[in-house]
Amino acid sequence: MPIVSPSLLSADFGNLQRDCEMLNASTCDWFHIDVMDGVFVPNISFGMNITKTIAKHCQKVMDVHLMIVQPERYIEDFKNAGAHYLTVHYEACTHLHRTIQQIKAAGMKAGVSLNPHTPVMLLKEVIAELDLVLIMSVNPGFGGQSFINQSITKVRELRQLITETGSKALIEVDGGVNLETGTHLVNAGADALVAGNFVFSSGNPTATIAQLKQL
Ligand code: DX5
Ligand code: ZN
Repeated sequence: MPIVSPSLLSADFGNLQRDCEMLNASTCDWFHIDVMDGVFVPNISFGMNITKTIAKHCQKVMDVHLMIVQPERYIEDFKNAGAHYLTVHYEACTHLHRTIQQIKAAGMKAGVSLNPHTPVMLLKEVIAELDLVLIMSVNPGFGGQSFINQSITKVRELRQLITETGSKALIEVDGGVNLETGTHLVNAGADALVAGNFVFSSGNPTATIAQLKQL
């Protein structure tokens, strides 16, 4: 049974409380929060204020994905906004090891995300420090894009690296997840699935979440 983390990027922003309550009542495990700065990715979503608003209505785990440059500037802000997991991008951090330590020192679980072009092996020296690795299965910036198949191979490689090193990191996958791609990902060793469009555009998000939980 995978951890299911619906992405609020696809929620109705005019009815955030309603959508949070729907998720609270569903079988999902985490709330996935996509923060975009218009620099690291070609889109702007929302920042700490909306994250804090969501956290106020969230009875589950706050899984915050920072798609921003120099994320080390905002670690305390996202702690204060209610993040439990804080994930930064490998491609956005010059001193990734330091940033991971800062996230943990602030009392959060530390995650690192890899863009589709970034090989898993680049995490070799920090994998032991991580609580989570987020494999992007689309180019970050937008919901509703199609799944990049090579991500399945990356999940397998990451599972092997984690096993070899004895790391406790969870493998999460983000982008284009549905029942079909989700099945392949779970078989390849994914622990957590993010799903935005697939959940929120379905006629019955609660039932869709329950189906993802069954994978
Ligand atoms: C993409 C975000 C994702 C996005 C996934 O930049 O990181 O979390 O919301 O959306 P879907 O599931 O619609 O591909
Ligand atoms: Zn995301």
